[in-house]
Amino acid sequence: MLSWNRNKIETDGWSFGKVKDFSIFSNFDCADPDLNDFIRNDAELHRNELIVETYEFRSISDAQLVAFVSLANDCLALETNRQKRVICNRVRYYSQYPAVKIARLGVAAYCQNVGIGSELINIIKELFTTNNRTGCRFITVDAYNNSPTIKFYQKNDFEFLRDDDGDEKTRIMYYDLKRFVYNTSPVINEG
Ligand SMILES: CC(C)(COP(=O)(O)OP(=O)(O)OC[C@H]1O[C@@H](n2cnc3c(N)ncnc32)[C@H](O)[C@@H]1OP(=O)(O)O)[C@@H](O)C(=O)NCCC(=O)NCCS
Repeated sequence: MLSWNRNKIETDGWSFGKVKDFSIFSNFDCADPDLNDFIRNDAELHRNELIVETYEFRSISDAQLVAFVSLANDCLALETNRQKRVICNRVRYYSQYPAVKIARLGVAAYCQNVGIGSELINIIKELFTTNNRTGCRFITVDAYNNSPTIKFYQKNDFEFLRDDDGDEKTRIMYYDLKRFVYNTSPVINEG
């Protein structure tokens, strides 16, 4: 059962909402020093500057804080012919699409790899396809280029935007929210 208001979602077992008090993260550890530093020291400043909005994710049964995600508006720009073929719509050609970016995401180290990050991704998909104020076609992320993180996003149906960033520290990945709304696979425009 899904209970919904604009910035708060409760599913069976999980609650997701905007962070009110960032001190809850003072001991948060997702096993990544940069992300720990961001959520403990920088996330509130980024909210105050209107750059990212940060959400907390808790287990309902014991109110345990299990994850956070920081989100920002984004724009997916198509540059290569492959991108233009794969990313299309049924209306007309656009070279840029509205998107929401996962700027930071961390699951508490003690409960990683048991499905919590995937639950959180599903809620983000729900959040940006329900009761929207503006159009939003894609979720984007600069994914850490390591095997667990890439596999995590692929398992959640994210795809690589580029073929040539395999040696970079991060890889740009995207998820087409039309897949979530219409429960479809990506449409490839061969024309
Ligand atoms: C990456 C992260 C967000 C994934 O969240 P999670 O709750 O651990 O992931 P889930 O349990 O929902 O998904 C598990 C899938 O992700 C991958 N995965 C996640 N952690 C993994 C690990 N330690 N080893 C191997 N695969 C892993 C696997 O594909 C796994 O699927 P499988 O169990 O079928 O093999 C989380 O591990 C994390 O916070 N890591 C540290 C910070 C980070 O890398 N953030 C991402 C920045 S872009």
